Amino acid sequence: MIFGRIKPLDAILATAEKKSLHRSLGAVQLMLFGVGCIIGTGIFVLTAAGAQKAGPGLMLAFAIAGAICIVAALCYAEIAAMIPVAGSAYTYTYSVMGEFLAWSVGWALVLEYAVAASAVSVGWSGYFTGTILNEFMGVELPSYLAGAPLALGGIPGGFVNLPAIVIALLVTWLLMIGTNESARVNAVLVAIKVTALTAFIILTLPAEEFSTGQFNPFLPAGLFGGFGSGVGAVGAAATIFFAYVGFDAVSTAAEETRNPQKNVPIGLIGSLLICTIFYILVAAGAIGTIGGQPILGPNGIPFPAGSEELARQCALPQYAGWLVCSDEALAHVLRQIGYSTIGNFLGIAAFVALPSVILVLLFAQTRIFFVMSRDGLLPEGLSKIHPKWKTPYVVTAITGMVVAFAAAFLPVGKLADIANAGTLYAFMMVAIAVMLLRRKEPTRHRPFRTPFLMLIGPATVFGCLFLFFNLPIEAMLVLPIWGVIGFVIYFAYGYRKSHLGQGIVEVHESEIQDIDPAIPGVDDADRI
Ligand code: ALA
Repeated sequence: MIFGRIKPLDAILATAEKKSLHRSLGAVQLMLFGVGCIIGTGIFVLTAAGAQKAGPGLMLAFAIAGAICIVAALCYAEIAAMIPVAGSAYTYTYSVMGEFLAWSVGWALVLEYAVAASAVSVGWSGYFTGTILNEFMGVELPSYLAGAPLALGGIPGGFVNLPAIVIALLVTWLLMIGTNESARVNAVLVAIKVTALTAFIILTLPAEEFSTGQFNPFLPAGLFGGFGSGVGAVGAAATIFFAYVGFDAVSTAAEETRNPQKNVPIGLIGSLLICTIFYILVAAGAIGTIGGQPILGPNGIPFPAGSEELARQCALPQYAGWLVCSDEALAHVLRQIGYSTIGNFLGIAAFVALPSVILVLLFAQTRIFFVMSRDGLLPEGLSKIHPKWKTPYVVTAITGMVVAFAAAFLPVGKLADIANAGTLYAFMMVAIAVMLLRRKEPTRHRPFRTPFLMLIGPATVFGCLFLFFNLPIEAMLVLPIWGVIGFVIYFAYGYRKSHLGQGIVEVHESEIQDIDPAIPGVDDADRI
């Protein structure tokens, strides 16, 4: 019976013990790491798509998505501190709900990590093309190389997003040869991102152009745009949820944290709170200065973000300069209010810092595949380790190529929505696993206990379902379609080859460089 294939928790924990990482991380390092993983394309780019869905209600959307992430983070913290091993949500599910559902979560995590890496690559491409090529070098990239085809929601004359391909492959290469950001590099990148957002807030909120009139109407598309419509404040929340994706990486560092009971929740919640406050202030600054009203269709409903119709509207002269049409939203706002040089610096900040978000996401993806293949659910060849680089180079190369392909032909908003669908499913399963484990193993040691789990757990499940059903219908449909493909693969391959199915329960030692929960961005020598 497939639901009966549950990996014994003790074997999983034995794996963790074999690694026995040094507990050296404090709350501040965790928060820094979290902010480094979280801030990226979501705020720097998707602010435009969010405004197209919600108008000024984007601020409320950031608050809604942030609140749902905070309850999800509390659930993550308990299970991550308890089962601090590779594979995150996939491994947790394996030990609580069995192989079949674990496979479905691992499969959904491909959407979270790989598709999100594609989305960030496309976001980076907008800043590279706008700031580096156009502003600094005066070079205009031909449109057929600058974006996805119009029919897929790209740009007029677009065919392929060449810069996005290049950055995705470059980061893949760095990961293959074993490059990992040091804590210092991570701290510098966090400082760059935080400085850029702070400068944005300081320049926009008190600006002469700032007018409270820009916030009226506050909810031009309503609070709920309707099931599957992807518009309204809640529809925007479902999209800009992407801006918070990555916080779960903090939970993977639980095993390396001093006093995890205290520091893991501070790290998780602290980084989310910092980002939520920044995001709401940035949205206020952008909308208050240049306005953030959506472009409405003939029926009074906003054109879907990332749609061909919207791209056509944005090409019209009357919408030149609108926030919702910009590929580099934040730099664009600063340029519009006369701070061109600082806008360009902000563009450089995004150009420099976004690749590290791609790195973290790709890293997480390759490690999930690695663990799934080590469990026999994917071909073993995938988990081959390079003799010199000590990295799972085969799976890294394949993942990188798929990420580059998706980045080449799809716009950032669509990619982010698809990534969100997979992430929401994984978060929901984690919350269910935490609640089940409390019943199944009430006495097992928990370095961190989610407070009020009987409220926080169901709130997470409900919040994830709520956001999921407010995604655009195409993004929602990707999850079941992707799931069906996954199940075909599972029954054709994993079900028969599963090590657990064959009665083999292994305890692994960490044989590759930085197999999580060692986190990219923190290395021993650099720990403060
Ligand atoms: N939260 C990350 C970003 O916005 C994935 O880029």
